[in-house]
Amino acid sequence: MHILHVVGARPNLMKVAPVLSALRQYPKIKQTLIHTGQHYDTNMSDVFFQQLEIPAPDINMGVGSGSHARQTADIMAGFEPIVLERKPDIVLVYGDVNSTVAAALVCSKLQIKVGHVEAGLRSFDRSMPEEINRLVTDQLADLLFTPSADGDQNLAREGIPAGKIFRVGNVMIDSLVRLLPVAMEKKPGGLPDRYILVTLHRPANVDDDRTLKTILGYLLDLNSQVKVVFPVHPRTRKRIADFGIDVSQLNLLEPLPYIEFLSLQRHATAVVTDSGGIQEETTYLNVPCLTLRSNTERPITVTLGTNILVGSDGGTLRAGLSKILEGKPKQGKVPPLWDGRAGQRIAEVLNQL
Ligand code: UD1
Repeated sequence: MHILHVVGARPNLMKVAPVLSALRQYPKIKQTLIHTGQHYDTNMSDVFFQQLEIPAPDINMGVGSGSHARQTADIMAGFEPIVLERKPDIVLVYGDVNSTVAAALVCSKLQIKVGHVEAGLRSFDRSMPEEINRLVTDQLADLLFTPSADGDQNLAREGIPAGKIFRVGNVMIDSLVRLLPVAMEKKPGGLPDRYILVTLHRPANVDDDRTLKTILGYLLDLNSQVKVVFPVHPRTRKRIADFGIDVSQLNLLEPLPYIEFLSLQRHATAVVTDSGGIQEETTYLNVPCLTLRSNTERPITVTLGTNILVGSDGGTLRAGLSKILEGKPKQGKVPPLWDGRAGQRIAEVLNQL
């Protein structure tokens, strides 16, 4: 059997690593890795390949940035001849980025089986580009690997037959479990005992001048109480420059490699973010997380984990943070099947096909 994996953006990489590694135990399975090149900066891609020990991709399509239509179309046009030439039996796509939906569309038209890793997540907010990618990819996929029971329920409601759905757990947590001991040895130097780790890149938060200014204002405010550590996504960096926002009072860092970022998360007093994956990682690490969104496609991080949705309201953010600084953070539990073995479960399903 020939399995072809497609990755494109940073959050795909921690998801593909455990699946590639688990499938290597089955000598009859041949694997191919395609990088669309949606993310291309070294610190958004190459360093993750090294740290997560992902083999170099068989092909890097180098599509780069563009509008949603342009980027999705470029991935589709570039990926179709690769699939026709390589003739995989199954194509695995990961998460909810433009590369995920583009590859799924190409394969379903060519009648090649698609497996979606991290299926079934829903924010119920169609203004998020990722929600469109999730909905379409799940309708097209033949095998849907979900991280939690809410994913199964969402898919059932959308008419996906139960026989296609496999609840395997959270592959992103597999990478975390594997590399946490290494991250623990790399305790960040030069930081106070208490600090808030921030990430910000959602279009809804960074693409509008006023919204971005308001959020950065909150962060400046926070910084006067407790140090803010903020590795900045290239999209956000670009918007800050475009809008001419003065950030000289904030300590902005370049995007960090996986292990360094994991170490910063593990030791943080709290994390303030609009990322999806970080809501999950903080839940696993039992670190308080305040999410700058009014919804989440990962509700289990709120119902069971340490995550609180603070929306875009500065008052709610401040109140959430005060509780944490007073030593009364929300207590959480690790969700079922977030145990470091999700990749193994996916490999078992694929091997039995
Ligand atoms: C993408 C995903 C998002 C994911 C995020 C993680 C989609 C729709 N969005 O968002 O779900 O959470 O990745 O990082 O697929 N850029 C660079 N260098 C890079 C990559 C991007 O400079 O290596 C800049 C470019 O200005 C680009 C912008 O970031 O135009 C946006 O990149 P894009 O891949 O379109 O979306 P992300 O915001 O990274």
